[in-house]
Amino acid sequence: MKHIAFIMDGNGRWADNHGKTRQFGHEKGSENVYDIFLSCINLNINTATFFAMSSENMNRPKEETEFISILLNNSIKRHLPDLIENKIKFKVIGDTSHLSSTILETISHAEHLTSKYERYKLNIAYNYGGKWDILNSIHTLLKNNVEISLDNISSHLSTGSDFPDLIVRTGGYKRLSNFMLWQAAYSELIFLDTLWPEFSSDDVSGILDNYRSIKRKFGKLIND
Ligand code: IPE
Ligand code: IPE
Ligand code: MG
Repeated sequence: MKHIAFIMDGNGRWADNHGKTRQFGHEKGSENVYDIFLSCINLNINTATFFAMSSENMNRPKEETEFISILLNNSIKRHLPDLIENKIKFKVIGDTSHLSSTILETISHAEHLTSKYERYKLNIAYNYGGKWDILNSIHTLLKNNVEISLDNISSHLSTGSDFPDLIVRTGGYKRLSNFMLWQAAYSELIFLDTLWPEFSSDDVSGILDNYRSIKRKFGKLIND
């Protein structure tokens, strides 16, 4: 497997179960991202995308969305030295236009300093919507007078043509919530009841074993 994506759901319920605020749940969830990324790398999965906030999540109270944007800012700053040391390309995908200039600077600084690395990739989907991604790709093609084709739409998505082999959603619901709608056409899907802050490296290993037992056919009769 080259690319795994996580829909990190369940921070709020985890906090509620522990008598804590939703903010505390998001903090715990955010702390888990880099550890899980490193477990993916250790298992030879070179790209991981984490769905941190959907475009629809922007309709939550401002205190919550702002808090999540601060967590994003702080965790990029905390992990940047490690990203550089381990040669990991970092990217935020999604509509970041509303973010404060401080956070935008943190993001572009990290993206710039890690842009030359190709082997390992860490993507954070923030204010991301699958519909937005497709529309954005088509707008780019139109603007540059490029033919609207399946291949061109794919290559102009925020992920480029690097689609996830597997999408894992924690938190008990079996839906994509507007995540990677185009890219998910042939992704394997795994849904877990585990709430994101409790999701662990052992869970990643278990998922990988499960994934390896799946025969991917892409519509063909034989997997050739
Ligand atoms: C996922 O956790 C993180 C975001 C969507 C920002 P939730 O905040 O959706 O947690 P639950 O679903 O309320 O438990
Ligand atoms: C999906 O979680 C988005 C992320 C995990 C970032 P939500 O909690 O927003 O999903 P719904 O509203 O239950 O579909
Ligand atoms: Mg949720």
